[in-house]
Amino acid sequence: MKIHQYDAVVVGAGGAGLMAALYATKTGASVAVVSKLYPTRSHTGTAQGGIGAALGNLEEDSPLWHAYDTVKGGDYLTDQNAAKVLADEAIDAVIELEHMGLPFDRTDDGRISQRRFGGHTSNFGEKPVRRACHAADRTGHMILQTLYQQCIKHNVMFFDEYHVVDVIKNQGAVCGVVALELGTGEMHIFHSKATLFATGGWGRVWSVTSNAHSLTGDGAAAIYRRGIPLQDLEFFQFHPTGIYKMGILITEGVRGEGGVLINGRGERFMEKYAPSIKDLASRDVVSRAIFLEVQKGNGIKGKDYVYLDVTPETVNRYLAEAGETRRIDGEYIEKKLPDILDFCRTYLGVDPVKEPMPIQPTAHYAMGGIPTNVDAEVVIDENWTVLPGLYAAGEVACVSVHGANRLGTNSLVDLIVFGRRGGKHMGEYAKQTDFVPLPPNPAAEIEAEMKRIRESTGKTRPGVLRQSMQQTMMENVSVFRHESGMKDALDVVRELKERYRNDITIDDKGYKFNTDLLEAWELGCLLDLAEATTISAMTRTESRGGHSRDDYKQRDDANWLVHTLVTANDAAGPYGSTTIEPEINLKKKVDLSLSEHDERFKPKERVY
Ligand code: FUM
Repeated sequence: MKIHQYDAVVVGAGGAGLMAALYATKTGASVAVVSKLYPTRSHTGTAQGGIGAALGNLEEDSPLWHAYDTVKGGDYLTDQNAAKVLADEAIDAVIELEHMGLPFDRTDDGRISQRRFGGHTSNFGEKPVRRACHAADRTGHMILQTLYQQCIKHNVMFFDEYHVVDVIKNQGAVCGVVALELGTGEMHIFHSKATLFATGGWGRVWSVTSNAHSLTGDGAAAIYRRGIPLQDLEFFQFHPTGIYKMGILITEGVRGEGGVLINGRGERFMEKYAPSIKDLASRDVVSRAIFLEVQKGNGIKGKDYVYLDVTPETVNRYLAEAGETRRIDGEYIEKKLPDILDFCRTYLGVDPVKEPMPIQPTAHYAMGGIPTNVDAEVVIDENWTVLPGLYAAGEVACVSVHGANRLGTNSLVDLIVFGRRGGKHMGEYAKQTDFVPLPPNPAAEIEAEMKRIRESTGKTRPGVLRQSMQQTMMENVSVFRHESGMKDALDVVRELKERYRNDITIDDKGYKFNTDLLEAWELGCLLDLAEATTISAMTRTESRGGHSRDDYKQRDDANWLVHTLVTANDAAGPYGSTTIEPEINLKKKVDLSLSEHDERFKPKERVY
């Protein structure tokens, strides 16, 4: 088995991982990025509509308004210290990307172009504001390419197609990871002073998702299985506009450019649910509105979808009604939303310039994850105790800057701002720290688990279990939730876990590029996260942001201005039992620091 040694190891090569690697390298640290994908295939590349920063290029804006929208959008579960950091540092982060060469769209006078997005307002909710800096509808793709080029320029070492499957702890610190080299099936140890997880989300828990097949929560699961808590897992965002049945993202930028949602009765129904900001309300509000319209029989042709209409005729009608002078035409749409047009033409045979797009909410983003402070250090309890040597950034982390519901474009800000902070901190930490020695046989447990899967001789194919998990989670733990449905989901997931442990089989028993083995492994991660998500959701007896319960319809600030921390009971070892018994800790309070000297940040009813 090969052992590699680096000051800092970054797991995952999306925006957060690359930003962290770049900044750790700049401190003089030796840095390796270990990624199961080739870096430019990372999921950041699918982020479409923009990165939020209060540049004020087209109309007045301020970081304080950005922080306010982030706190309100998060339904007041957002840690306000983190929201301030995000909004303040977003401006400099975007300018830095521009200076690295990111080809943003431009205004007529050459500045970075900005568009409207859900929940982005000026003057503390007064009216929509253009805050989303964008490169057509390929903003994430451009960020990924730009950062990868910068990392190559700064000699970051890449281990592409190395799948990290375990985290190594010793002497009270994290001192590395174990990775499976996909090309050979060999195990590698990466011994480090500091390790940062930036492995993204786990949308593949649900059947309709905007997430790529690779978004299986392996990083979060590896951490969780080693007894480190995960925070606020009950908050998983459903983006309102995924392509019907396929889940592929249709950017909120479509509504930012003037697109509207239309039900089967031809009504612009968001006027009922968010009279002031309408289609640009926050995502939880819009997703619930779509579900409710469908429940009332107002879906298109009575089915479970509605239309998103960005045809110039419709957009111009509503712009005129709103008293706006701006008008659009087909050429403008082609320029601003080229990928969306391409997806719809290719997958649906629908041309959005001429006809509306069929859409439905799609599982999109984990607000919860590995708890961290604002320097991306992982914290393990309500006292913010740092676990030395471990960092997390991007979607896999929970800072918690998104609270109960993330605003569109804040994911890209999150990964740039907190990736950069994490990278700097890791580099400095590595300078002051010695390597913690590796424990004996650090890969032994994981090798035994891989052997078990490779040599399994049961009757059930992993794909069958995955489908069943995705279906029950979609039915019972999605936009609306109820105790009885969640209990059903938990029973199903636990039965699937039992079968995963005792009855699976895979065809490929080999070592080289064994995707059968990889997918089976990923399923185990998804099942653990589905179980922990459901238990976290059952525990929170209120409705807030993306967690909406039919049996507890109100937000309950008196009892629930706290984060949930779910910890795996690993008495039997991470791979020794069929059912991890998750324990929940409810003592981690929400940071309300901005509200202490500004009334406007105090939790209140959200009106859009
Ligand atoms: O709608 C979008 O373009 C998605 C952006 C995001 O999730 O922030």
